[in-house]
Amino acid sequence: MSLPVTAKVPFGGDYNPEQWPEDVWKQDYRLFDTARIDLVTIGVFDWALCQPAEDRYDFTLLDRIIERAAAEGRGICLATGTGAHPPWLAKAYPEVTRTDFEGRKHRFGQRHNSCPSSPVFRRLSVELARRIAGRYADNPAVIAWHVGNEYGGACYCELCAAGFRDWLRHRYGTLDHLNAAWYTSFWSHTFTDWDQIEPPSALTEHWRGPDHTAFQGITLDYLRFTSDAMLTNFHDEKAAIRESSPDLPVTTNFMGLYRPVDYHRWAAHLDFASWDNYPPNDESAARMALTHDLMRGLKDGQPFWLMEQSPGVTSCRDVNPLKRPGLMRLWSWQAVAHGADAVLFFQLRASRGASEKYHGAVIGHAGRSDTRVFREVAQLGVELDRFGPVSLGARTPARVALLFDWDSWWALEISDGPSRLVRYQEVVLAYHRALWDAGVDLDVVAVTQDLSRYDVVVAPALHMLKGDLPQRLEAVAARGGSVLTTYLSGRVDENDQAFQMDVPGPLGQLLGVRVDEWDARGPETVNPVRLGAGPDQLDVEARLLFELVIPQGAAVVGTYQADFYAGTPAVTRNSFGAGDGWYVAAGLDQAGVSWVVRQVLARHDVLGPYPDTPDLESAVRVAPDGTRLLFLLNHRAEPVEVTAPSSGVDLLTGHRTTTGASLPLPAYGVVVLREDR
Ligand code: GLA
Ligand code: ZN
Repeated sequence: MSLPVTAKVPFGGDYNPEQWPEDVWKQDYRLFDTARIDLVTIGVFDWALCQPAEDRYDFTLLDRIIERAAAEGRGICLATGTGAHPPWLAKAYPEVTRTDFEGRKHRFGQRHNSCPSSPVFRRLSVELARRIAGRYADNPAVIAWHVGNEYGGACYCELCAAGFRDWLRHRYGTLDHLNAAWYTSFWSHTFTDWDQIEPPSALTEHWRGPDHTAFQGITLDYLRFTSDAMLTNFHDEKAAIRESSPDLPVTTNFMGLYRPVDYHRWAAHLDFASWDNYPPNDESAARMALTHDLMRGLKDGQPFWLMEQSPGVTSCRDVNPLKRPGLMRLWSWQAVAHGADAVLFFQLRASRGASEKYHGAVIGHAGRSDTRVFREVAQLGVELDRFGPVSLGARTPARVALLFDWDSWWALEISDGPSRLVRYQEVVLAYHRALWDAGVDLDVVAVTQDLSRYDVVVAPALHMLKGDLPQRLEAVAARGGSVLTTYLSGRVDENDQAFQMDVPGPLGQLLGVRVDEWDARGPETVNPVRLGAGPDQLDVEARLLFELVIPQGAAVVGTYQADFYAGTPAVTRNSFGAGDGWYVAAGLDQAGVSWVVRQVLARHDVLGPYPDTPDLESAVRVAPDGTRLLFLLNHRAEPVEVTAPSSGVDLLTGHRTTTGASLPLPAYGVVVLREDR
């Protein structure tokens, strides 16, 4: 099963009319008409509404909300309502609340607050999902199921401890295997009974917070267990939905670059992926592109839904900047360019009270249609209407893969040494930025992904090597491709144990180097690196981590310029089969990263049409019928003029253009060129 069936890109978002009187609903729908809103996500936090007591379910209001949406001709993405549990549940069964990392047992409050291992939570959340699906599955307006909400966080209670022990028994079978995997001969940790095992928390293995642990193997497994425990919650609700709804696709809304949940472990269990895009600031265009690609990569390139974005401001941050005029539209089209088959907002109408009353909404408290935000939303609605179904199901024709790995993220950031300052996301973002600037169409994929379709594989900070990944990377190079990786790669196996061989472990043959030692310094210490020679030569800066490399066949591409290792390699390239393996041994600045990435790409003809026009993003999607869509997105606040790379029609204006003709893009402008065939 894949995406919900729709006739165009669904447009709408979270709608919570249970929060205001029914006479307002009428006004809501007239405004939805104006904005061409055709999809509402309903019931995300309706547990207390639908089950006011353990022995009482009451769907009166939800019935009315759903009847109304259906009568108004809107599609419904219907939630199971289990993202927050009701007060009576916490009071009657204290086991449903979480125990935090410090060991504090929480009482009722907030949301996303349920212990994933609690049998009571599991029983009652599944029962609610079962009843909601049973009641509404036959309503033709319902086109998708939304389980829970933004799964995340962690719990350290006794039930989770027991769940962890079960999970470990399943993973390791015997305590001997577990002791070996956790390296418990260190610091007298040999476990002789499963009951001796504790969740790693501030009370046990940790100090200075969740990243400082005495036993990386234990903490890593608890992160995996936590991700799996919440996945079980999702899975159980989905199974309950399936009892009465065999055909409608089920999703849950992810959070993109969210460390606590390994979305790759979840991906197979979702019928389609969806995510909530709340970028940290106005400068996040590349980061959003990366995240869209990561979400698209979850289901092997299948399109995803943009489940939430704010039409204007957020409210959860200390400071909540407004999206400048044009940005909401630009970022919506960026999502579509990267594979979104729905553009949805949080939220359609603003709540009047509690913590999100100042959060942006399509319709504000006054219910006006003459606000800037509403106007921009309505314009986008008209535009998406006109755009129609052309992009639905379209794929990104990527020949470049960026590997992303939650295990490497976790292992690198809970490691003692070499440096707490090297952050996985930062390294990945730098290499992605170089690819994005070059206009490369890329897939962001798990390390288990089939790599045989890619010409270039970029694997920043590939700290952990699992399974046959080294062989699959070698195969990419052997048949003429390029593999690029960096410092802190090839360090540990799946149990976070160092390889008993030279760094970079099983990548040594491919990269033709061995790392002899490494030097970590604060951000104020710069070691200049000279890249290339002749007209290509570039002097850049390296910071944070400097690995000392001894080539074992690789050619030297860049060298350190200072300290006792001046003149030794900082960047290398190794011929391997018909291709090559590149290694960047230091934390190069963005100019350095971009220089190396361009060298790697040079042999492969994968650059986009405007690799030298800053912040002009390009992305291609190919529809199931072969139609090629070229998206051009001007992320600058100034207009830009380029020449058309191909002939076709701009689907947003209807203007026809021919190869080489001038193509002006206004500030924050968008072109979607349907290329001639
Ligand atoms: C998340 C949640 C929503 C809402 C928004 C506000 O994405 O899923 O319920 O809280 O954030 O930005
Ligand atoms: Zn728990």
